[in-house]
Amino acid sequence: MLKILVIGGAGYIGSHVTREFLDRGYTVTVLDNLSSGTRQNIFGEAAFVHGDIMQPLHLREIMAEGYDGCVHLAALKAAGESMVRPEAYAGMNLAGTINILNAALATGIPTMIFSSSAAIFGSPRYLPIDEDHPKEPENFYGFTKLEIERLMEWYDRLKGLKYASIRYFNAAGYDIQGRIQGLETNPENLLPIVMETASGVRKGMKVFGNDYPTRDGTCIRDYVHVSDLASAHVTAFEYLVEKKKSLSVNLGSETGITVQEMIQRAREITGQPIPAAMSDRRPGDPAELVASSKKARGLLGWIPRYSDIDTLIDSTWKVYRNNFGLT
Ligand code: UFG
Repeated sequence: MLKILVIGGAGYIGSHVTREFLDRGYTVTVLDNLSSGTRQNIFGEAAFVHGDIMQPLHLREIMAEGYDGCVHLAALKAAGESMVRPEAYAGMNLAGTINILNAALATGIPTMIFSSSAAIFGSPRYLPIDEDHPKEPENFYGFTKLEIERLMEWYDRLKGLKYASIRYFNAAGYDIQGRIQGLETNPENLLPIVMETASGVRKGMKVFGNDYPTRDGTCIRDYVHVSDLASAHVTAFEYLVEKKKSLSVNLGSETGITVQEMIQRAREITGQPIPAAMSDRRPGDPAELVASSKKARGLLGWIPRYSDIDTLIDSTWKVYRNNFGLT
């Protein structure tokens, strides 16, 4: 039975990745410092270690248990915040990853599945964004993700560590069987904010700009279901084991949805009014981001199954409704 260590496995994406490895029969250990992840997201079938990637000695001890692969999702992830606290992002994302990679080398873990981001590309030069698109991050968060990708290329070249860089576009949705119920605290992403508004936790929300050159003036994004992302992690791991070749892939549904369309469909599905006021543009938001996932489809046979707008909203709404005791 292959053993996987999921670092950051108590978080929103990490818990879905853990679920997918468990469902496919792997033995999983979750390592998390629970700074943004929650105990609620840890499954009985997975071992749990409370630990921190900023403590290299403890990290190495844990990794010395022997794993066939490591999934690395532990990071700070607010692009806006990264522009005012670069030192925090350099520490956690860059230094933290170096700790993980060095521990992997020292303990003989042969494969690394890394949670990367569309933020490595910066403003699109063309759409859809494929893997050859220029990589010119416009925020420090994206810079850290790109540097980690480059670091892994060198560790592969020099030490033979095989890696998969999985670049998420806009992760959304929840496990459709309802097995993951943990909410993100202080969310900054669109769908959780829409859901908090639908649940009444927020009185209203803002639409950041309606004067973009898009069909209704609001930004277009490529929302991809977190369980579809999760399945790509498992397939990428299997690819590394079988082919012994590293890879980088863009993961999105290849469909663009505007902010306004997301809010309107959420009103219809939840039956809630979801008051949304127009406001100024948020600095750094490109008008449109849509992925090409042709490479993931070709190399990994990846097919998104849950990334349609209704499943994204419906699976998220069920979790918010449960958490807030709504019928
Ligand atoms: N938006 C609103 N109101 C809100 C929140 C968001 O109008 O209250 C809009 C944003 O302006 C944007 C869209 O909804 O147009 C999506 O915003 P998100 O913050 O959910 O997502 P982003 O596309 O800004 O960022 C996501 C990830 C980042 C990653 C980036 C890569 O959250 O981590 O994609 O492209 F860096």
